[in-house]
Amino acid sequence: MVSNILVIGGTGKTGRKVVEGLNQQHQNVRIGSRNSNPIFDWDNPETWLNALTGMDKVYIVYYPDLAVPGALEAIKGLTEAAKKASVKKAVLLSGKGEKEAERCEQVVANSGLDYTLVRASWFNQNFSESFFLDPILAGHVALPMPNAKIPFVDTSDIAEVVVKALLEDVHNGKTFEVTGPRTMTFEEVIKEIALGTGRNINYQAVSLVEYNSMMQAAGLPADYIWLIDYLFREVLGNEDNQVVTNDVEKVLGRKATDFKEYVQKTARTGIWNQTLPQTI
Ligand SMILES: NC(=O)c1ccc[n+]([C@@H]2O[C@H](COP(=O)([O-])OP(=O)(O)OC[C@H]3O[C@@H](n4cnc5c(N)ncnc54)[C@H](OP(=O)(O)O)[C@@H]3O)[C@@H](O)[C@H]2O)c1
Repeated sequence: MVSNILVIGGTGKTGRKVVEGLNQQHQNVRIGSRNSNPIFDWDNPETWLNALTGMDKVYIVYYPDLAVPGALEAIKGLTEAAKKASVKKAVLLSGKGEKEAERCEQVVANSGLDYTLVRASWFNQNFSESFFLDPILAGHVALPMPNAKIPFVDTSDIAEVVVKALLEDVHNGKTFEVTGPRTMTFEEVIKEIALGTGRNINYQAVSLVEYNSMMQAAGLPADYIWLIDYLFREVLGNEDNQVVTNDVEKVLGRKATDFKEYVQKTARTGIWNQTLPQTI
């Protein structure tokens, strides 16, 4: 059966792969972003109902994170708009180990919509499409929490799980915790990327306080620094989040993608061999 599906964040790390997966299944897909038509903007609630109108289902990716102030109200408003637009089902991308995100999950679960919650651990793609890319290009990665063992998950796996959740009713009412197949420290991650690219990249352990000072010195905005600090502290600082689950395998019937495979695939794109633009 063909459904009309709004993919919020449909040009982002998981969203664009969800769009690809749904297109392969011949679904009618609408991207929801600040650059889509119709526009969907989390910062402008007036755009929500219009983007949801005519849709049967919605993939919800909140930006920048369900833990930030205002996210809970936004998720409440969005689910209300979805019901008004007669949307039947929502799949929410959530962050594993974030208490604030769990409050947003409850809003979706109690909304009256059919739903699936997909709780993800940190993405592999943070090292190639996000804030860890620049230090890798610079050959020097200073990060806190050196002892945290993180079950990084690949966004391709998340997207495949989301596509199944959107298309198969058997997943209604379920919460999936998606992780990769093993835990890794930052030092192990950087070694693996150095090996896969043949580049010299060194890893330096710093304290969270030092890391915050580095972000301030780099001129990053205060709310961004707050969020990164929160994610390091809450998610990586909690041993409950340092476990591997088999939910990817349960849903997809195959093992989760290993970090080594992600490194090999990403290295072939050349993204880790770019030169950093001169800042002076
Ligand atoms: N990164 C991780 O490791 C991780 C782990 C677990 C959970 N998550 C969750 O994943 C979600 C996405 O995080 P991400 O960092 O990976 O981002 P992302 O999905 O790559 O986000 C970028 C997408 O969001 C859209 N976007 C940005 N601002 C928007 C706005 N104001 N209104 C509407 N769309 C907007 C962008 O499109 P336009 O620029 O065109 O608007 C783009 O499609 C967050 O909720 C986060 O909690 C992330």
